[in-house]
Amino acid sequence: MINNIAIVGMQWGDEGKGKIVDLLSKKSNYIVRYQGGNNAGHTIVIDKKKTILHLIPSGILHDKTICIIGDGVVVSPEFLIEEIKNINKSNISIKNRLFLSHNCTIILPYHIFIDRAREKFQGKSSIGTTEKGIGPAYEDQVARRGLRIGDLKYPNYFSKKLKEISIYYNSQLINLYNQEAIDYNFILENILKYKKQILEITTDTSSILINAKKKNKKIIFEGAQGSLLDIHHGTYPYVTSSNTTVSGIFSGTGLGPFKLDYVLGITKAYSTRVGSGPFPTELFNDIGNHFFKKGNEIGSTTGRRRRTGWIDLVLLSQSIQINSVNGLCLTKIDILDELEEIKVCIGYQSIDNKKITNIPCSICDWEKLVPIYKTLSGWKSSTLGINKFQHLPEEAKNFVYFIEKFTKISIDIISTGPDRNHTIILRNIF
Ligand code: IMP
Repeated sequence: MINNIAIVGMQWGDEGKGKIVDLLSKKSNYIVRYQGGNNAGHTIVIDKKKTILHLIPSGILHDKTICIIGDGVVVSPEFLIEEIKNINKSNISIKNRLFLSHNCTIILPYHIFIDRAREKFQGKSSIGTTEKGIGPAYEDQVARRGLRIGDLKYPNYFSKKLKEISIYYNSQLINLYNQEAIDYNFILENILKYKKQILEITTDTSSILINAKKKNKKIIFEGAQGSLLDIHHGTYPYVTSSNTTVSGIFSGTGLGPFKLDYVLGITKAYSTRVGSGPFPTELFNDIGNHFFKKGNEIGSTTGRRRRTGWIDLVLLSQSIQINSVNGLCLTKIDILDELEEIKVCIGYQSIDNKKITNIPCSICDWEKLVPIYKTLSGWKSSTLGINKFQHLPEEAKNFVYFIEKFTKISIDIISTGPDRNHTIILRNIF
């Protein structure tokens, strides 16, 4: 019996996790975010109405699910309250349904200013972050300098600690980045405005989850970003600052190590990435442009154009390994509808024609990779909205079979469009 599922991105994020979490939330009791922050952008379309969530788990759109923002998430109180206000406008209530861990590290305005200043300072070699202060907030966490949500209960401690942090960051802003200092009193006053509302939803979320697990409740762990942005396993240093892979669940929820019943890896039928960093199968031609236009590949958090390219089965296989994936969900297959031919990357060679068997570590090695492609026939007909596998064109089925054969993992869900109904379910997971 499957009681818990992890839903993780196999690429560089934006694989369409939000839609799938929403879809599976119907049969689930708890949806849990365990890492990242409001750098994420999960788009859900129901009856043509689009909702984008950044911090609140995608399950919030089902009125019976309980949503948890776990210990490993970094949280901007101001942003969270704004997001709650926005979903309230759509008549979605969070009362007794949204809980925030007291252990979450707070994103302060300093983090956002430093993130921006660094990106500007680094110029061409910048990471291309979302400038939401994610990296600096995680830095504070590991440097044991951070303020946590639970600290809001203790105003004296909070303001004392904030003062120390302000000295640290203002010195960097002034001396390293030639920026103005930020007034600590202003930040304190601002954050205290949200204190009451934040503390109303703050609790020991780890206990909630431990109890839920004891009662065999159905839990979905909703990953943010993608495995190739993982701080350890991604295309370092062009990564985010958390464990986007399933390993983040154990540290980011307080549930302790346990057996995940099922890990669903989400991959697009092609690849995209926002920000800088390695992308071996990137396209700079009409096909790349087609993916951008038809796939509406614009970042839902930053509005930036996403880079586009062919699906990379070598990297997909790595993501499958590091996440112990049980089944795949292939999204946006309909974006390939018009193509005469479809390429899939099945290996790499170096620029001097040497075969490469290992995924590189150093950024200098990534630059030497040349993808080896297998070319498959396109299907040149619409798959939009198809919800039965047998109704897919033969070439589309062959594309699916090829990925399954290469990765040795079954494709259990196929998404054929943005709506909840545009989905082929090949295996009922819950
Ligand atoms: P940060 O997470 O804002 O520090 O950004 C680090 C890298 O991760 C940048 O390349 C961002 O574009 C990327 N990134 C962060 N969040 C997302 C996401 O939700 N989708 C896609 N890329 C993301």
